[in-house]
Amino acid sequence: MHFLPEELDDYVVAHSEAEPELLQQLTRETYQKILQPIMLSGSYQGRVLSMISKLKQPKTILELGTFTGYATLCLAEGLQKDGEIHTIDINEELEDFQRKYFDKSAYGHQIFQHLGDALDIIPKLDKTFDLIFIDADKPNYVNYFHLIIDKLNPGGIILSDNVLWHGKVVEPLDPKDVSTKAVLDYNTLLKEDPRIETVLLPIRDGLTISRKL
Ligand SMILES: C[S@@+](CC[C@H](N)C(=O)[O-])C[C@H]1O[C@@H](n2cnc3c(N)ncnc32)[C@H](O)[C@@H]1O
Repeated sequence: MHFLPEELDDYVVAHSEAEPELLQQLTRETYQKILQPIMLSGSYQGRVLSMISKLKQPKTILELGTFTGYATLCLAEGLQKDGEIHTIDINEELEDFQRKYFDKSAYGHQIFQHLGDALDIIPKLDKTFDLIFIDADKPNYVNYFHLIIDKLNPGGIILSDNVLWHGKVVEPLDPKDVSTKAVLDYNTLLKEDPRIETVLLPIRDGLTISRKL
């Protein structure tokens, strides 16, 4: 989703970091072989995720919704040398594809894949995190928030993707549209929860940064 006129959008991309070659390969293969390739974060948002991670320099990262591993690799760029990223996806068909690219990167040994429903896996992770990227099924965003908030270290960051939901957040709500309702509820929760401070960035489909106080 582009909120800026195309010409300005192109200018923004042209004056930002270039996408690493490995991520270009991963994107090509995702488009050739995987259903719904549009789900991957893409080059500009990927550079934003990488920059935020490098600024934060996390020791531990959690990602909900690995897909083909694009954002995992972007976030891993900011990890401390002995840091680790845990990434969860429910789709077992993606596991080998992800591992192939993780192992081609410099971060393969720091990336831990978890297969299954994030709602089941998060409570079993006996760790706390400096950075959490929420990018799985929208109807569970509120549930994910409640599961992860006590696992986020003070000063830790939650990044939430697709919070503008293709612009539907400002359109009249169809009562049958559970995903839009879920995103609306989630955005209200992030704005009102006193444990965090939040800024919604109009990047791609909307990316919110929340910082734990
Ligand atoms: C938008 S894609 C993630 C994109 C990826 N983070 C990126 O930026 O390239 C969403 C992923 O969430 C996964 N997913 C959906 N429901 C899930 C659940 N309940 N638990 C874990 N993963 C889930 C899907 O299989 C899909 O791969």
